[in-house]
Amino acid sequence: MMLQAMHKQFERLFDSRADVAAFAPGRINLIGEHTDYNGGYVFPAAIELGTYGLVSKRSDDMVQLFSNNFEDKGMISFSLNELEFDDTHDWANYPKGIIKYLKAQFPHITQGFNMLVEGNIPNGASLSSSASIELLTGWLLRQLFNLELSRLELIKMGQQVENKFMGVNSGIMDQFIIGMGKAEHAIMLDTATLKYDYVPAKFGDYVISIMNTNKRRNLTESKYNERRAECESALEALKQKLDIAALGELSTEQFKAHQYLIENDVELRRARHAVTENERTKQAFKALEQSDFTTFGELLNASHNSLKNDYEVTGKELDTLAETAQKVEGVLGARMTGAGFAGCAIALVHKDSIKQLESEVSQKYQDDIGYLPSFYHVGISEGVKELTI
Ligand code: GLA
Repeated sequence: MMLQAMHKQFERLFDSRADVAAFAPGRINLIGEHTDYNGGYVFPAAIELGTYGLVSKRSDDMVQLFSNNFEDKGMISFSLNELEFDDTHDWANYPKGIIKYLKAQFPHITQGFNMLVEGNIPNGASLSSSASIELLTGWLLRQLFNLELSRLELIKMGQQVENKFMGVNSGIMDQFIIGMGKAEHAIMLDTATLKYDYVPAKFGDYVISIMNTNKRRNLTESKYNERRAECESALEALKQKLDIAALGELSTEQFKAHQYLIENDVELRRARHAVTENERTKQAFKALEQSDFTTFGELLNASHNSLKNDYEVTGKELDTLAETAQKVEGVLGARMTGAGFAGCAIALVHKDSIKQLESEVSQKYQDDIGYLPSFYHVGISEGVKELTI
């Protein structure tokens, strides 16, 4: 098992035994994309792919971090007194950001620590490997230093790392599901109030297939921030006549009646996606509650379409995956998941049609894109947790 090998490696690397072990999952989002910074609903689930970590206290004030996923970066070291973003620290900026904000809240953390991490979430696959390492770091340190820190506080801290430390103006979805996930359940989260419901992620004879474009991500952060700014600008235009704080407060009808206020066509389409996607998410929640998988699948397709045409965050690779999957017999629906541009799509597929899906999608993808996608079938996991050592 991975953790056993990590323990041995930990002792070799740091000449000490680990005091705490933990696991933080990755996530998929069933539906509700780019709604979490618009005060709308999201419907994510934590997955069994994730990041494992071990820590031990040191006697000095140094932090020593090693990732088996970035062996070429070697051991990354810094003092607890220099916690600024540093490009050369690469992946370690995520844990570093968490350490910075934890230390601000708990100034008594003066003792350094060693940390070894290893994840099986493919990098850049839009399955939230970054939020996974943020929450993992927070949970390990919470246990190591006996910190009084709630899951929600840690979730908010993870978002703060993205927003203030990494410069990505992301919403709270990824950290929330990784912090709060429950096995075999998705979470229907209202990002305006942070009220949420656990919903059994059971699809009868159907399962969720994750399909990875295997495309390298490029400029995702700047395009993400641009989309958010476009939504904010559309909201300002609507506020001329509407007393609203977020696009998520609007029904499609209300939006249509006031869309004339948005002069910029790009901003109008961005806002239309945010509003209609929020409605689709509420409908998908109801459909799943009623085990109406056909409607659920249709909503997935409509979501992809809106993300492609109005939000423009899909691209050729994600479109090829989702649109090919949508046509496979036994598939009820498919869409991109996560921020978009690259990464993964999901399909709701009959369990007897999985092979068919994989072969038809692989063939079309190879023909049109020039290389193969990957497929994962994984269970729905609980949120970040301590592991016995
Ligand atoms: C990324 C962000 C989330 C969310 C999704 C899009 O995963 O981190 O906050 O905005 O994109 O739905």
